[in-house]
Amino acid sequence: MDEESIMEKLIIFDTTLRDGEQAPGATLNDREKLEIAHQLVALGVDVIEAGFPISSKGDFNAVKKIASSVKGAVICGLARALPKDIDAAYEAVKAARGGSRIHVFLATSKIHMQYKLKKAEDEILRLAAEAVRYAKKYTSDIEFSPEDASRTEPEFLFKVLKSVIAAGATTVNIPDTVGYAYPEQYGGLIKAIRENVPNVGRAVISVHCHNDLGLAVANSLAAVKNGARQVECTINGIGERAGNASLEEIVMSINTRRDIYTGIKTSIQTKELYKASRLVSKLTGFAVAPNKAIVGANAFRHESGIHQDGVIKKRQTYEIIAPEDVGFTGTGLVLGKHSGKHAFIDRLQELGVKLSDEELSRAFVKFKDLADKKKTVYEEDILSLIEDEINKPVQIWQLDSISYSSGTRLVPKATVKLRHKGRASSMSSVGDGPVDACYKAIEKLTGVRAKLLDYRIEAVTSGKDALGEVSVKVISNKKIAAGRGASTDIIEASAKAYLNAVNKLAIKPEKSRVLHF
Ligand code: KIV
Ligand code: ZN
Repeated sequence: MDEESIMEKLIIFDTTLRDGEQAPGATLNDREKLEIAHQLVALGVDVIEAGFPISSKGDFNAVKKIASSVKGAVICGLARALPKDIDAAYEAVKAARGGSRIHVFLATSKIHMQYKLKKAEDEILRLAAEAVRYAKKYTSDIEFSPEDASRTEPEFLFKVLKSVIAAGATTVNIPDTVGYAYPEQYGGLIKAIRENVPNVGRAVISVHCHNDLGLAVANSLAAVKNGARQVECTINGIGERAGNASLEEIVMSINTRRDIYTGIKTSIQTKELYKASRLVSKLTGFAVAPNKAIVGANAFRHESGIHQDGVIKKRQTYEIIAPEDVGFTGTGLVLGKHSGKHAFIDRLQELGVKLSDEELSRAFVKFKDLADKKKTVYEEDILSLIEDEINKPVQIWQLDSISYSSGTRLVPKATVKLRHKGRASSMSSVGDGPVDACYKAIEKLTGVRAKLLDYRIEAVTSGKDALGEVSVKVISNKKIAAGRGASTDIIEASAKAYLNAVNKLAIKPEKSRVLHF
């Protein structure tokens, strides 16, 4: 038997679209969720937890759309241990061609049972098994999560697991809901489950760790070492409060430390990691910290002379992962203003960007505009340009032009011209600075009053002529939207980002989540 065939599979269950989207301020619309789901399939995740269908009409529709149009992964919907939740979850995931999973959860820790659910152990035991049996009539693929498992009395946890497996659960997930666990302890809990739940061999043991103490990845890996064969995680580690275990860190730990995770493999196409990270960051508006492991901008940058010298002599002196293995292409000089369309198309193909003929022509025009302003165009510039100009949804208002004046003794003023339903109109405004003036002009033109929650600017590459990428988060009528814009002119990038967010706000609001436990 070859080595590959004796390797055990670690199932990667991605919950970016469910727990990840529960991160405060990370609301995604249907189109954005669909785009992320497609990238998750390209990444090779096994299960996509697409949402919590009963929580809102918007969530239900998004899960349904993903199930009916995304092929290549099992699509999962979350449900409380209630028939109406399970009905909604199944209704939403049933069209999935790669398999449908229902994920039922019910809290089992003393504190949750006593104060939140106000139920005794016997009742919890009964409700958990009943819910699994109920879900089983819809699909054979049932996951059960005893919420707050890491703070549950172990003897009671074993009883619950035995009973849900007997009722038909095929995956039992052990959530560290509040990120309280510690690696040795959590690994020990997984071992104890294997030793004390007699029918555990009939189910996959899964783990789901939160990052409140910064231990989500360490805890997940300790669990894998002790027999867990499914890990629940999110891109960039986004999620409720301090977030969930980060998918890219778990996968790259397993791949890099084969000496420790001997015999374990995942289906993740690691070259897609960087792209997935950028996409999730762009659509949620959550910037990735420069020092973030695997996907941060500095993850493969060597500043000190000694390190640079070492890397030139032998890369492995200071790099344990090859940047290209995670799809990080670095700052590759690619094209200039004399480059032709063929060279541009070739480079897009190398970058894995797929565009229609019409999009290609538009992208080429934008590239030429950029090359006129910027002497050298890098791969990152091209990716930013595609994200900014081509892959964006139809905009209710489009930026036609912007002009502004500002200076030490000048009152900052901006004039913005927008297109709306084929007509152009412009407005001027003054403000505390040129960005503020420009946002006020946009507010007057669109009539959308939004408060700026977050504003970030980053240079896409190095150099004085670098493309500036602005990410904003705004709130209006309790609805939060993220926007992103790029330009060699940072005020224009700021206007594009803000307008992008305002366009999202202007789309009909979805019903917000209402949940009573
Ligand atoms: O953190 C948690 O306990 C959860 C469950 C619903 C699995 O997200
Ligand atoms: Zn969670």
